[in-house]
Amino acid sequence: MEQMSTLPTHVSIIMDGNGRWAKRLGKDRLEGHKEGIESVRACIELCVELKIKYLSIFAFSTENWGRPTAEIEGLWALMIKALRAELKTMMKNNVRLVILGDLSQLGEELRAEIDHCMTESKNNTGTTVIVLLNYSGKWDIVQAANRFIKENPGKEMTAEDVDNYLITAQVPDPDLLIRTSGEQRISNYMLWQCAYTEFYFTETLWPDFRKSEFRLALDAFSHRERRYGKV
Ligand code: FPP
Repeated sequence: MEQMSTLPTHVSIIMDGNGRWAKRLGKDRLEGHKEGIESVRACIELCVELKIKYLSIFAFSTENWGRPTAEIEGLWALMIKALRAELKTMMKNNVRLVILGDLSQLGEELRAEIDHCMTESKNNTGTTVIVLLNYSGKWDIVQAANRFIKENPGKEMTAEDVDNYLITAQVPDPDLLIRTSGEQRISNYMLWQCAYTEFYFTETLWPDFRKSEFRLALDAFSHRERRYGKV
């Protein structure tokens, strides 16, 4: 399966099942998130190897604020650590990092790390890794509409305007959306952008989703026939 016939330009992933992975092993939920970061690393590596242009991952939804404070704080700490540890490798692999979402509610330290990594990697031309943080699809559509109204008073919004005002404007729509852990729903993620996206669901929990699992998803995608509403 080394040379895949049709590779997606943009793969997006709803990483799910970290908590259940930890629970199965009698560990703290944060251990699941920690192991989940290893899966993120493996997936980025495969995208770099296969020259997949865009990989986006749903790291924290606007609904995730409802989790226990200790878990949320722990997640921020893990993200800060991961960003610090991985920047060098990302630079070596020509990876551009883009973090999108409502970042205003994040802590100072995390925001500074995000700024640093985005600035350092902004001219890299290989895989673009997009991390959706404090993001939701409905939030994105509402912010797009509000910004459009403010900037274009009295004008009607077209579908192209929506594309251009979404926070993901610089990124093509996902060709393939993967969700792990057996859940088969979109959970308020890229609602507009997934209009013609192929979905791939797997029972595998996110911390177990490594390169071989990712390859299975890419292989399944290569056999899909995309018709975009035509015959
Ligand atoms: C879903 O599992 C996972 C999350 C909400 C967090 C995912 C975040 C990471 C893996 C960190 C990414 C870090 C960087 C730097 C990009 P869950 O907790 O909902 O699992 P459960 O449904 O089994 O409880």
